[in-house]
Amino acid sequence: MSSLPPVGRLRWTDVPAPLRTRLETGLGSTITDAVTPAGGFGHQLAAALTLASGRRVFVKAAPDDDPLTDANVHEANVLDVLPPGAPAPELLGIHRAAGWTAVVIAHLDGPHPDLSPASSDAGQTWALLDKLTSSPAPAAYTEAVATTPSGVAGLHGWDVLLANPPGDLDPDVRHRLHELAELEAAWPGLAHGDRIVHGDLRADNMVRDQERGVTFVDWAHATTGPACVDAVSLAPQLVLAGHTPKDTARLLDEHPATATDPLASTAFLAALTGHWHRNARLPAPPGAPGLRAYQHRAATAGMALLALRMNRTACGSGLPGQLRPYSC
Ligand SMILES: Nc1ncnc2c1ncn2[C@@H]1O[C@H](COP(=O)(O)OP(=O)(O)O)[C@@H](O)[C@H]1O
Ligand SMILES: [Mg+2]
Repeated sequence: MSSLPPVGRLRWTDVPAPLRTRLETGLGSTITDAVTPAGGFGHQLAAALTLASGRRVFVKAAPDDDPLTDANVHEANVLDVLPPGAPAPELLGIHRAAGWTAVVIAHLDGPHPDLSPASSDAGQTWALLDKLTSSPAPAAYTEAVATTPSGVAGLHGWDVLLANPPGDLDPDVRHRLHELAELEAAWPGLAHGDRIVHGDLRADNMVRDQERGVTFVDWAHATTGPACVDAVSLAPQLVLAGHTPKDTARLLDEHPATATDPLASTAFLAALTGHWHRNARLPAPPGAPGLRAYQHRAATAGMALLALRMNRTACGSGLPGQLRPYSC
């Protein structure tokens, strides 16, 4: 009945029978099929369920002592309070049984967007980000995310690499470690803001739904912050999808979410790239095959963008004195 999930993911057959029954009661129909989509690095169950009625829903589930349950519940709370028109699926319910929690979400029908230059999906995603960040988050959203510490604000990595530079670090990057650590150190002071932040924007956390177009999923890291966070996160993904760093850097210059706050944008790009550079070198966590290889690729893409921004602002006015690279 269930398709084979990506290595490391819990399967539908791992879900305790009482929770499966609870879900069928809540959904008012028996579940006839469960398909785990490709994508993502989480190990919790994430599956599209088909009901006897023909309807489909999407479910994320894990044991209650698994930290991903807190993340799933956080996501459910966020989906419940996103403003109308936000590019997100609706929350359908939370079900608990046998020490597990399942979050049921409206099913989106389509592939991950194609962020390559050949597709219009990237342009649509930029436009969605502009709309999402152009006004402050509603109070209900701010309240829902307030009790969960923001992972975005705590991103770093260059400080660790500076203290103990790895032998395989690119010589150009090694040469700039001081500047990078300095830029990254500015990020926590700039990470505050009142905008909706998805916090983990990649193609595999979006679905190009047949009817709604590009829609963001996996709101488990959602928080509030400056408008630039998601646009900056998306930029290395565009490079990975085939856009040149130069074209992508120009998009960052022009997008309202980043153009209005170049200092926070550069500091966050530094923190994110440092996080990737550091974590790519750590042992692989259980249940997340492919994560370290992805972080290596993302670190290279982020660094290409960062180098362009740093070279340009090196002796210009973009950065305050204490943030200017040593070469100035
Ligand atoms: N509402 C949805 N409808 C259809 N597919 C979805 C939905 N939400 C997520 N997906 C798909 O499931 C995958 C895993 O879900 P996601 O929420 O990203 O979980 P994870 O935290 O494990 O990455 C996504 O990469 C996407 O392909
Ligand atoms: Mg995901």
